Amino acid sequence: MDQGLKGALGLTGPEACLAYYRDWAASYDQGFASEMQYLLPAHVAAAFMGARGQGPVLDVGAGTGLLADSLRQMGFQHPIDAVDFSVEMLERAAEKRIYAGLFQADITRPLTLPRRYGGIVSSGTFTAGHVGPGALPNLLAVAAPQAQFALSINRRVWTAAGFDVALEALAGDGKISDLHLIEVEVYGAAAAGIDAEHAADRAMIALFRAA
Ligand SMILES: C[S@@+](CC[C@H](N)C(=O)[O-])C[C@H]1O[C@@H](n2cnc3c(N)ncnc32)[C@H](O)[C@@H]1O
Repeated sequence: MDQGLKGALGLTGPEACLAYYRDWAASYDQGFASEMQYLLPAHVAAAFMGARGQGPVLDVGAGTGLLADSLRQMGFQHPIDAVDFSVEMLERAAEKRIYAGLFQADITRPLTLPRRYGGIVSSGTFTAGHVGPGALPNLLAVAAPQAQFALSINRRVWTAAGFDVALEALAGDGKISDLHLIEVEVYGAAAAGIDAEHAADRAMIALFRAA
C-alpha cells in the first residue's frame, strides 16, 4: 500500500489529517480500498437500507464516495449530499457524479447546512486519528425529525474515545432513539497479506433515530 492506513490511523490532529488525505486521495480507491478489500462502506449502506433509511441523505466524511456508491448499487434513489473537510477527497467523489451537493466542512464544528436530512450515514470517519463523539451533536443539528442514522465507529475507539457513553447519554437525554449496534469486519481476507496489524479491524455500526 502506498500512502496507507497505518499513517491514517496514527494522525494526531485535523491539520495532519487534512495533509494526509491531500496525498492519499488519488490512490485511495484503487490502492487502499481495492487492495484491502474495504468492506465497511457496503456494510454501512446495507445497515441503512435495512433500517429503511430515507433521503435526502448526508454522507459524513464522504471521502471519495464509496458509501454513496454502495447505496446506489443497493438501489437507493434519494438525493445524497457529501460533507468532508478534504477538498482532494471531494474532488474524487465529484468525478463519480453520485452526489447532489458536495460540502467542504469540518464536522467537529457546527455545520452551516440546513436541518433537512432524513438520513445521515458515515463510514470510516469515526476512527483512530480522525473524529470523536464530540461531532455527534453537529450531525444531529442538521437531521430532520426522526432522521435515520447509520454511522460506523471503529472498535478501537468505541470505548476508548467514549462513543459508547456519548450515545447512551444522547439516548438518555431523549435526543436519539432506537439505538441498535451491529458489529462488522472492516476489511476482507486479502487485507491480511497487506497490513496484518489492521486486517482484523472491526467496527460498530450505530443505527439510531434523531428525536
Ligand atoms: C477513512 S476516510 C473514509 C471515506 C469514506 N467514507 C469511505 O468509507 O471510504 C475518512 C474521511 O473523513 C474525512 N474527515 C476526517 N476528519 C474530518 C473532519 N473533522 N471533518 C470532515 N471530514 C473529515 C477525511 O477527509 C476522509 O475523507
